[in-house]
Amino acid sequence: MNNLQEKDPAKSANIFKIVDSLDDLIKVFIVRGIVFIAEQKVPYRIEMDEHELSALHILGERDGEPIAAGRLRFLGDWAKLERIAVRKEYRNRGYGHAIVDYMLNVARTKRYHKFKMHAQAYLCDFYARHGFQIRGELFKEADIDHYLMVWDEESH
Ligand SMILES: CC(C)(COP(=O)(O)OP(=O)(O)OC[C@H]1O[C@@H](n2cnc3c(N)ncnc32)[C@H](O)[C@@H]1OP(=O)(O)O)[C@@H](O)C(=O)NCCC(=O)NCCS
Repeated sequence: MNNLQEKDPAKSANIFKIVDSLDDLIKVFIVRGIVFIAEQKVPYRIEMDEHELSALHILGERDGEPIAAGRLRFLGDWAKLERIAVRKEYRNRGYGHAIVDYMLNVARTKRYHKFKMHAQAYLCDFYARHGFQIRGELFKEADIDHYLMVWDEESH
Protein backbone atom coordinates (compact mmCIF):
# COMPACT_ATOMS: atom_id res chain seq x y z
CA MET A 1 0.00 0.00 0.00
CA ASN A 2 1.55 3.35 -0.95
CA ASN A 3 1.02 6.52 1.03
CA LEU A 4 -1.86 7.66 -1.21
CA GLN A 5 -3.86 4.56 -0.32
CA GLU A 6 -3.75 4.86 3.46
CA LYS A 7 -7.25 4.14 4.79
CA ASP A 8 -6.67 4.51 8.52
CA PRO A 9 -8.35 7.76 9.70
CA ALA A 10 -6.41 7.64 12.97
CA LYS A 11 -3.14 7.66 11.05
CA SER A 12 -4.36 10.37 8.72
CA ALA A 13 -5.50 12.59 11.62
CA ASN A 14 -2.00 14.02 12.01
CA ILE A 15 -2.06 15.36 8.47
CA PHE A 16 -4.50 18.09 9.58
CA LYS A 17 -3.66 21.42 11.16
CA ILE A 18 -5.23 24.72 12.04
CA VAL A 19 -3.98 27.29 9.56
CA ASP A 20 -1.68 29.84 11.17
CA SER A 21 0.35 31.16 8.24
CA LEU A 22 -0.24 32.77 4.88
CA ASP A 23 1.46 29.80 3.24
CA ASP A 24 -1.10 27.39 4.72
CA LEU A 25 -3.99 29.71 3.87
CA ILE A 26 -2.86 29.75 0.23
CA LYS A 27 -2.84 25.93 0.27
CA VAL A 28 -6.41 25.90 1.64
CA PHE A 29 -7.55 28.24 -1.11
CA ILE A 30 -5.81 26.09 -3.73
CA VAL A 31 -7.69 22.97 -2.54
CA ARG A 32 -10.97 24.90 -2.59
CA GLY A 33 -10.18 26.31 -6.02
CA ILE A 34 -9.56 22.83 -7.39
CA VAL A 35 -12.57 21.18 -5.74
CA PHE A 36 -15.28 23.81 -5.59
CA ILE A 37 -14.40 26.19 -8.44
CA ALA A 38 -12.89 23.80 -11.00
CA GLU A 39 -14.73 20.55 -10.19
CA GLN A 40 -18.10 21.73 -8.86
CA LYS A 41 -18.24 24.94 -10.94
CA VAL A 42 -18.96 27.20 -7.96
CA PRO A 43 -18.30 30.79 -9.08
CA TYR A 44 -15.29 32.43 -7.43
CA ARG A 45 -17.42 35.29 -6.09
CA ILE A 46 -19.55 32.76 -4.16
CA GLU A 47 -16.74 30.43 -3.12
CA MET A 48 -14.75 33.23 -1.53
CA ASP A 49 -16.70 35.38 0.89
CA GLU A 50 -16.33 38.05 3.53
CA HIS A 51 -15.61 35.48 6.26
CA GLU A 52 -12.26 34.24 4.95
CA LEU A 53 -10.10 36.42 7.20
CA SER A 54 -12.13 35.87 10.38
CA ALA A 55 -12.84 32.12 9.99
CA LEU A 56 -10.69 29.30 11.31
CA HIS A 57 -9.26 27.28 8.42
CA ILE A 58 -8.17 23.65 8.45
CA LEU A 59 -5.56 22.25 6.06
CA GLY A 60 -4.77 18.63 5.27
CA GLU A 61 -1.49 17.92 3.53
CA ARG A 62 0.74 15.01 2.72
CA ASP A 63 4.42 15.49 1.99
CA GLY A 64 3.87 19.21 1.47
CA GLU A 65 1.01 18.64 -0.98
CA PRO A 66 -2.30 20.25 0.02
CA ILE A 67 -5.01 17.59 -0.26
CA ALA A 68 -7.92 18.66 1.98
CA ALA A 69 -9.47 21.76 3.48
CA GLY A 70 -12.29 22.94 5.72
CA ARG A 71 -13.48 26.08 7.42
CA LEU A 72 -14.99 26.63 10.85
CA ARG A 73 -17.01 29.59 12.02
CA PHE A 74 -18.40 30.14 15.51
CA LEU A 75 -21.88 31.65 15.55
CA GLY A 76 -23.49 32.09 18.94
CA ASP A 77 -23.65 28.62 20.52
CA TRP A 78 -22.94 26.93 17.21
CA ALA A 79 -19.81 25.79 15.44
CA LYS A 80 -20.51 25.81 11.72
CA LEU A 81 -18.53 23.47 9.47
CA GLU A 82 -17.99 24.80 5.97
CA ARG A 83 -16.03 24.32 2.73
CA ILE A 84 -15.08 20.70 3.42
CA ALA A 85 -13.12 19.35 0.48
CA VAL A 86 -10.74 16.54 -0.43
CA ARG A 87 -9.00 16.61 -3.81
CA LYS A 88 -10.44 13.98 -6.11
CA GLU A 89 -7.29 11.87 -6.42
CA TYR A 90 -7.14 11.49 -2.61
CA ARG A 91 -10.78 10.50 -2.02
CA ASN A 92 -12.20 7.28 -0.57
CA ARG A 93 -9.20 6.79 1.70
CA GLY A 94 -10.82 8.13 4.86
CA TYR A 95 -9.62 11.73 4.66
CA GLY A 96 -13.14 13.15 4.34
CA HIS A 97 -14.38 11.53 7.55
CA ALA A 98 -11.06 12.31 9.23
CA ILE A 99 -11.22 16.04 8.47
CA VAL A 100 -14.81 16.17 9.79
CA ASP A 101 -13.65 14.46 13.00
CA TYR A 102 -10.73 16.87 13.24
CA MET A 103 -12.99 19.91 12.77
CA LEU A 104 -15.44 18.65 15.41
CA ASN A 105 -12.57 18.14 17.83
CA VAL A 106 -11.20 21.62 17.19
CA ALA A 107 -14.64 23.02 17.97
CA ARG A 108 -14.89 20.90 21.13
CA THR A 109 -11.58 22.27 22.39
CA LYS A 110 -13.23 25.68 22.14
CA ARG A 111 -16.17 24.32 24.18
CA TYR A 112 -18.63 24.12 21.33
CA HIS A 113 -20.97 21.14 21.41
CA LYS A 114 -23.61 22.25 18.91
CA PHE A 115 -22.59 21.79 15.31
CA LYS A 116 -24.27 22.75 12.08
CA MET A 117 -23.59 22.82 8.39
CA HIS A 118 -25.09 23.32 4.97
CA ALA A 119 -24.55 19.83 3.61
CA GLN A 120 -24.59 19.04 -0.07
CA ALA A 121 -27.64 16.80 -0.37
CA TYR A 122 -25.73 13.81 -1.77
CA LEU A 123 -23.64 13.72 1.42
CA CYS A 124 -26.40 13.54 4.06
CA ASP A 125 -25.58 9.90 4.86
CA PHE A 126 -21.88 10.79 5.06
CA TYR A 127 -22.54 13.49 7.68
CA ALA A 128 -25.19 11.41 9.47
CA ARG A 129 -22.38 9.01 10.38
CA HIS A 130 -20.95 11.83 12.52
CA GLY A 131 -24.29 12.51 14.26
CA PHE A 132 -25.73 15.22 12.03
CA GLN A 133 -29.46 15.25 11.28
CA ILE A 134 -31.36 17.05 8.53
CA ARG A 135 -33.40 20.08 9.56
CA GLY A 136 -35.92 21.66 7.20
CA GLU A 137 -36.29 21.63 3.46
CA LEU A 138 -33.88 21.23 0.58
CA PHE A 139 -32.43 24.54 -0.61
CA LYS A 140 -30.03 25.77 -3.26
CA GLU A 141 -26.65 27.30 -2.46
CA ALA A 142 -24.30 28.09 -5.37
CA ASP A 143 -26.96 26.29 -7.46
CA ILE A 144 -26.22 23.03 -5.59
CA ASP A 145 -28.83 21.14 -3.52
CA HIS A 146 -28.20 21.46 0.23
CA TYR A 147 -29.81 20.60 3.56
CA LEU A 148 -29.22 22.27 6.89
CA MET A 149 -27.81 19.54 9.15
CA VAL A 150 -27.37 19.96 12.88
CA TRP A 151 -26.02 18.00 15.81
CA ASP A 152 -26.29 18.98 19.46
CA GLU A 153 -24.12 16.34 21.11
CA GLU A 154 -25.16 17.39 24.62
CA SER A 155 -28.85 16.75 23.97
CA HIS A 156 -28.27 12.95 23.83
C1 LIG B 1 -17.19 14.79 0.55
C2 LIG B 1 -15.71 14.55 0.49
C3 LIG B 1 -15.00 15.59 1.34
C4 LIG B 1 -15.43 13.14 1.06
O1 LIG B 1 -14.02 12.95 1.04
P1 LIG B 1 -13.38 11.48 1.04
O2 LIG B 1 -11.94 11.63 1.37
O3 LIG B 1 -13.70 10.78 -0.21
O4 LIG B 1 -14.16 10.83 2.25
P2 LIG B 1 -13.92 9.39 2.92
O5 LIG B 1 -12.91 8.63 2.15
O6 LIG B 1 -13.70 9.59 4.36
O7 LIG B 1 -15.32 8.72 2.77
C5 LIG B 1 -15.92 8.62 1.49
C6 LIG B 1 -17.37 8.85 1.69
O8 LIG B 1 -17.94 9.70 0.70
C7 LIG B 1 -19.12 9.10 0.23
N1 LIG B 1 -19.33 9.50 -1.14
C8 LIG B 1 -18.40 9.77 -2.06
N2 LIG B 1 -18.97 10.08 -3.22
C9 LIG B 1 -20.29 10.01 -3.01
C10 LIG B 1 -21.42 10.19 -3.83
N3 LIG B 1 -21.29 10.54 -5.13
N4 LIG B 1 -22.64 10.03 -3.28
C11 LIG B 1 -22.79 9.68 -1.99
N5 LIG B 1 -21.73 9.48 -1.16
C12 LIG B 1 -20.51 9.64 -1.69
C13 LIG B 1 -18.83 7.62 0.34
O9 LIG B 1 -20.02 6.90 0.35
C14 LIG B 1 -18.13 7.54 1.66
O10 LIG B 1 -19.02 7.61 2.74
P3 LIG B 1 -19.16 6.45 3.82
O11 LIG B 1 -17.78 6.05 4.21
O12 LIG B 1 -19.91 7.09 4.93
O13 LIG B 1 -19.90 5.37 3.11
C15 LIG B 1 -15.19 14.58 -0.96
O14 LIG B 1 -15.96 13.67 -1.72
C16 LIG B 1 -15.27 15.94 -1.61
O15 LIG B 1 -14.38 16.77 -1.44
N6 LIG B 1 -16.32 16.17 -2.40
C17 LIG B 1 -16.44 17.41 -3.20
C18 LIG B 1 -16.67 18.61 -2.32
C19 LIG B 1 -17.93 18.51 -1.50
O16 LIG B 1 -18.98 18.11 -1.96
N7 LIG B 1 -17.77 18.89 -0.21
C20 LIG B 1 -18.83 18.82 0.75
C21 LIG B 1 -19.52 20.12 0.89
S1 LIG B 1 -20.88 20.00 2.06
